Amino acid sequence: MGAAMADIEIALNKLCSCYNIKSNDVGGIYNLSLKDVSSKTQCPFDSFSQSRFSIRDFGDSPLDIDKVYAALKLCERTPSACNRQSWVIHVYTENKLVEKMFKLQGGSKGFYEQMQCAILICGDLRNYGFYEQNLPFVDGGLYAMNLLYSLHYNGLATIPLTMGHKWRVIKKIKQEMNIPGNEIPVLLIGVGTYKDDFKVAVSHRYSYKQYVKFNQ
Ligand SMILES: Cc1cc2nc3c(=O)[nH]c(=O)nc-3n(C[C@H](O)[C@H](O)[C@H](O)COP(=O)(O)O)c2cc1C
Repeated sequence: MGAAMADIEIALNKLCSCYNIKSNDVGGIYNLSLKDVSSKTQCPFDSFSQSRFSIRDFGDSPLDIDKVYAALKLCERTPSACNRQSWVIHVYTENKLVEKMFKLQGGSKGFYEQMQCAILICGDLRNYGFYEQNLPFVDGGLYAMNLLYSLHYNGLATIPLTMGHKWRVIKKIKQEMNIPGNEIPVLLIGVGTYKDDFKVAVSHRYSYKQYVKFNQ
């Protein structure tokens, strides 16, 4: 992308030839536009689902909160174990809280200031037995993917941000954000608006044939 990286290129080539490492060309970036995205958000699922990307290059037009409400409404239909719907969703739109949440999460350095809304998906542990302690992550994960698609459908730019942290970090996040003890954070979603033209990471995917086993 034009950065002066000749030293790194030389060192990398040396390393690759020394250890016989083959480089691949599946990384990189796509240059997308709001026009591209808008033309796909209301398409049939095959085009729609392939047009969602994690955004790390947001626009500064104001976020329309009605679009967030519309996405949350769609997510009421998310399936869950025994239909318990045990998620608790914290939506932050006030600048100070949004910034605090992203700084505590730590995985959006370099772009957290561009996001206007943070949505923290938690599971309510009181709705699960001692033998089903992974279920909040299953229910919350299904909700999270549904919400990513619903926000995308409503024209908002999103990125999933991990809540897989050491226990002491989770404890600090919960304390600072006033999350009660009975809630377990599952995923944070950063939300913003699109730029007219923006870049996304390619994020190569394996073919399903590499990990799907039929009748084995
Ligand atoms: C559970 C989870 C946690 C993630 N955490 C981060 C994060 O902390 N920071 C980040 O920049 N991206 C994060 N991502 C985004 C992934 O890097 C991204 O989804 C993946 O590379 C696939 O790219 P795509 O979303 O553009 O299809 C996370 C994604 C998931 C599903």
